Amino acid sequence: MPDAPDLSVDLAGLRLASPLIAAAGTCGYAHEFDAVLPARAIGAIVTKSITREPRAGNRPWRILDSGAGMLNAIGLANVGVEAFLGEKLANGRAGAGHAPPVPLIGSVAGDSIDAYVRVAAAFAAEPRLAAIELNVSCPNTADGRQFGDDPAALGDLVAAVRAAIADTPLLVKLSPLAPDPIRIAAAAVERGASALTIMNTVPALAIDVESRRPRLSNGMGGLSGPAIHPMAVRLVRLVYEAVARPASVPIIGLGGVMHWRDAAEFVLAGASAVGLGTALFVDPRCPARIHRGLAAWVRRQGAARLADLTGGMEA
Ligand SMILES: Cc1cc2nc3c(=O)[nH]c(=O)nc-3n(C[C@H](O)[C@H](O)[C@H](O)COP(=O)(O)O)c2cc1C
Repeated sequence: MPDAPDLSVDLAGLRLASPLIAAAGTCGYAHEFDAVLPARAIGAIVTKSITREPRAGNRPWRILDSGAGMLNAIGLANVGVEAFLGEKLANGRAGAGHAPPVPLIGSVAGDSIDAYVRVAAAFAAEPRLAAIELNVSCPNTADGRQFGDDPAALGDLVAAVRAAIADTPLLVKLSPLAPDPIRIAAAAVERGASALTIMNTVPALAIDVESRRPRLSNGMGGLSGPAIHPMAVRLVRLVYEAVARPASVPIIGLGGVMHWRDAAEFVLAGASAVGLGTALFVDPRCPARIHRGLAAWVRRQGAARLADLTGGMEA
């Protein structure tokens, strides 16, 4: 029996035992999933996005099944940075229930550079958070994409955050609808991003045909799941070729992974790691299945390491 292939990932200095990452907002504050997430199959958990002040988010309904995926408009509901660090992170086991503990990545959202910097600086000072992800692409708040669509604004934000967090690994999460995703990605990388998460949900609308009202209280929501997967694969490929490969910056492919084959596609497009969101709602234990499938695929490809297949799509 040949050795098991190496699926570990070096994510900008952060060593992950598995390439599978639980995506922001799909594991709450992280400790909620300790009992169910398969320990060895998950490489890291990203918290829901945390803001400087608490946010109630949108009224119900704020999540629904849309057939080919799910629609959500949570509206960044969260307890705020102080309660997150003081209560949620302190009281929850937050990955520590696993041996070895699963690294936690703190997701940050805000409506100004100062708001992002305050939360990011607090996260960088917190030893239980191994990295920071900037959510600049939330479709469900009035100001959620003010940075994600504008290369100059994003560059200034990333530079300000970088200055406040020293060498903490910094992931920047891109929007699927950025008018010029390559310039956006380049701006993030040039000003201090250590990795790119591609991508957030796609703005979408579902209507109740009896009441004729939007099914989500917010009106519009963000689409996730299988429907968006090929869009995310395309975006990963574009950014990999134009920005990430030349700069040697890793990409986390995120969007619609339900099966190991979807994860393998992301890797071939250029991803070093793969996020899981909607799939965790369907089956929180799916990472074990996807991890096994990936390992068998790497072996069939004749590779010793998953990392050797990153970007390996034949033209
Ligand atoms: C219920 C729900 C809540 C989410 N909350 C956040 C969030 O707080 N911050 C964020 O950056 N992304 C959030 N997302 C987006 C996911 O992290 C991910 O980008 C998206 O769902 C696409 O991946 P998927 O198709 O695997 O679900 C959320 C998604 C869902 C479904």
